[in-house]
Amino acid sequence: GAEDAAYLISKIRTIPGFPKEGILFRDFMPALADARAFGILMDALEAALPVSADDFDVVAGLEARGFLFGPALAARLGKGFIAVRKAGKLPPETVSQSYDLEYGQASVEIETNAIHEGVRVLIVDDLIATGGTANAARSLIEKCGGTVAGFSFVMELIGINGMESLGSYPSSSLVRMP
Ligand code: PRP
Ligand code: HPA
Repeated sequence: GAEDAAYLISKIRTIPGFPKEGILFRDFMPALADARAFGILMDALEAALPVSADDFDVVAGLEARGFLFGPALAARLGKGFIAVRKAGKLPPETVSQSYDLEYGQASVEIETNAIHEGVRVLIVDDLIATGGTANAARSLIEKCGGTVAGFSFVMELIGINGMESLGSYPSSSLVRMP
């Protein structure tokens, strides 16, 4: 209920000026550290899935913070988990996709055989800002022959059109903040 939502939000920390001047950094680590907030978070993610759990086969989490709850969500739903990693972490052969970040440039990679043709994937991450990371992950999965069923985020930064940048893919976020 509303009390649980308020409790979860109270465990999201805001750090102005990190990692750069002008960035209002939203940090959900305190919500993972607190047992009650973590429970609320996991229940809420499951309740807010953008598509039915019958409509995807695996959960793909984005390094690093998508690794902190993506496997827990996958296990709850009886799905496998695929790690979408930052460049240079995986041995060859990998498939790669570069993207622009709110504060920098990066690439994401997965092992060439991590996604089989036709596999339906739910992409998860802690936060969507510009949407650059999430769109790169989508491109990567589609390059490999996978189908993106939707996106689940814990937090959505509003006013920078991140969710809109995803186009018509089903998506959900638990907490919307500037
Ligand atoms: C953050 C966040 C998302 C991404 C969102 O990760 O966890 O993955 O940025 O920004 P975007 O929507 O503008 O692409 P970061 O790149 O800081 O990496 P980390 O999780 O490895 O710390
Ligand atoms: N918090 C965490 N990750 C981020 C943010 C933020 O505010 N902006 C871009 N990536």
